[in-house]
Amino acid sequence: MLVRGAPFLTSHPAICASCAAPLPRPERRRPAAFAASAASAVALAGARRAERTARCAGQAMSCGASVFIATSLDGFIAKTDGSVDWLNEFSATLPEGEDGGFGEFMASVDGLVMGRKTFESVRDMEGVPWPYGDTPVWVLTRSGVEVPERLKGKVRTTCGTPQEILEQLAKSGCKEVYVDGGETIRDFLGAKALRRIILSRIPVTLGEGRPLFSAEQEAQLTEVSRKTLPGGIVQVTCTM
Ligand SMILES: NC(=O)c1ccc[n+]([C@@H]2O[C@H](COP(=O)([O-])OP(=O)(O)OC[C@H]3O[C@@H](n4cnc5c(N)ncnc54)[C@H](OP(=O)(O)O)[C@@H]3O)[C@@H](O)[C@H]2O)c1
Repeated sequence: MLVRGAPFLTSHPAICASCAAPLPRPERRRPAAFAASAASAVALAGARRAERTARCAGQAMSCGASVFIATSLDGFIAKTDGSVDWLNEFSATLPEGEDGGFGEFMASVDGLVMGRKTFESVRDMEGVPWPYGDTPVWVLTRSGVEVPERLKGKVRTTCGTPQEILEQLAKSGCKEVYVDGGETIRDFLGAKALRRIILSRIPVTLGEGRPLFSAEQEAQLTEVSRKTLPGGIVQVTCTM
């Protein structure tokens, strides 16, 4: 690709053909007196090429991971039996069309990774259409899970460490993935594999249930925004 209107770059590709990363500007020619010897110039060019290739490889392999999740005021994502009826009931009280930013978040990702238990709970919700459209979903499982015919082609299973999974997704073209499920999020957090957490705190207490965070898990995050949404939801966005 050529950059129009920038004469000193007209013969220089602006982006890498393989990973679309911006390429560094070529150096302007210098007077001979300042030129390095031919041998060292070749070596320098080789080093620059190697550096560029390494940067391309790094960028091609990188897939960011974000979380978008709701918890009760006391920090649970589901009741002990896995039920999220409390969340569905609360959502039903919100103004028509209010999704707490979920649509905008979904538009920022190009893949999903979810724990097997989360997948099963979404798969089995009666009368609720599949909420992720055609966005590819990777379900994490070591024991296997049944993927119904209607979801074949959209859902596949995998396993591995968070880093291995992100590498696998990067190879398949994902740039930003939505990570979902309590145990799964804790694994990614523990592996420092998350870039962003958007947590919506719902003004409901459950007393007990499945937690988002575990008692022994410590992590340093930076809060980048906090807003109050309809229904008294407090939505906090943190980066790592
Ligand atoms: N409040 C919310 O916004 C929200 C959001 C999401 C989910 N939920 C609820 O939370 C519950 C599920 O969360 P959860 O913490 O119980 O479980 P989860 O994270 O959804 O699933 C855990 C399972 O994922 C698999 N897994 C996790 N990491 C893996 C890895 N690295 N490699 C292979 N497999 C891996 C294992 O499956 P196997 O046992 O098959 O090996 C594990 O048992 C559901 O009830 C769901 O409805 C609520």
